[in-house]
Amino acid sequence: MRKGQILTLLGIALVAGGITTAVAVLPTWLPVQASREAGRIDFVIWFTIVISIVIFALVAAVMIYEIAKFRARPGDDSDGPPVHGHTGLEIGWTIIPLLIVTSVAIVSAIVLSRNGDAGVNPLRVDVTAVQYAWTFTYPDAHGLTSNVLRLPKGRSVMLTISSKDVIHSFWVPNFGQKQDAVPGLHPTLHITPDRLGTYPVVCVELCGLGHALMRSEAIVMTPAAFDKWLKSQQTAIASPNASVSGAAVFKNNGCGACHTLTAAAATGKVGPDLDKLAQWAAQAKQPLASFVKTSVTDPNAYIQPGYPKNVMPGTFGASLSQQQLDALVQYLISSKKG
Ligand code: CUA
Repeated sequence: MRKGQILTLLGIALVAGGITTAVAVLPTWLPVQASREAGRIDFVIWFTIVISIVIFALVAAVMIYEIAKFRARPGDDSDGPPVHGHTGLEIGWTIIPLLIVTSVAIVSAIVLSRNGDAGVNPLRVDVTAVQYAWTFTYPDAHGLTSNVLRLPKGRSVMLTISSKDVIHSFWVPNFGQKQDAVPGLHPTLHITPDRLGTYPVVCVELCGLGHALMRSEAIVMTPAAFDKWLKSQQTAIASPNASVSGAAVFKNNGCGACHTLTAAAATGKVGPDLDKLAQWAAQAKQPLASFVKTSVTDPNAYIQPGYPKNVMPGTFGASLSQQQLDALVQYLISSKKG
């Protein structure tokens, strides 16, 4: 091979590599990193992207050069000389991919093991999925429950993920880690938030009509602000005259993801409009209170015309205490508009 040919090949490789690098780097493909785990995952992505760009540039250079230089003349049907038994070439194309794949496997294994290591004394949060909402419980804070995931910056967090009905999947794109929520299983997911801010919590497993609405927020706070929030919530729980609030039951169980209720600022459109409960009860020819209660505990007992069966989870009513159920029914009755 002459020096000129090598320079031409290198030139084409640089142009192809430059264009590919620009496509990889210029648009913002990846979400803003908000956890140490996301940083490591992104490192693996960039590690493989760099390898891919180098391979692509070399292949493109050889291909473009050959198309331009050795194109068959019109009418030339002859074949080139066969290349066979080039031991050096065969060893080369076996060893190089082996090294590349092994290096990607080693880097991935290191990242997987570090991302799974929650260290000692992580903050524990139970994540519960139900059609179509997330609830977050802090077992070390007297079972404090929230429908928003609040986390302190810089502390290792161990999420235990479960589902009350079908398979969902918990994902905060900015945290990187992802985990399915499977009924009967309690897998864990480790996250160390390292950037203040509010990030989306999304369900990434098709779980029914309201799947696209199954969203919440993860708020990363300063440790001081987080402690303050924990204390304020616990005071509210411990306060002796704090009766079970129907509004809190409504909010914490994510009812608003599917239903509209002006009193709760809920605008869900998957299920019937709860502002019009009286009208629906009249339509079903049932007394209001028992209609509301049955609709919560046995959603398929009466299906509002125009809405499909089996969308409202039947397990939902059973997950409430009698007190919570009564508070919720009272709240819905007193909040309805007509
Ligand atoms: Cu839950 Cu999709």
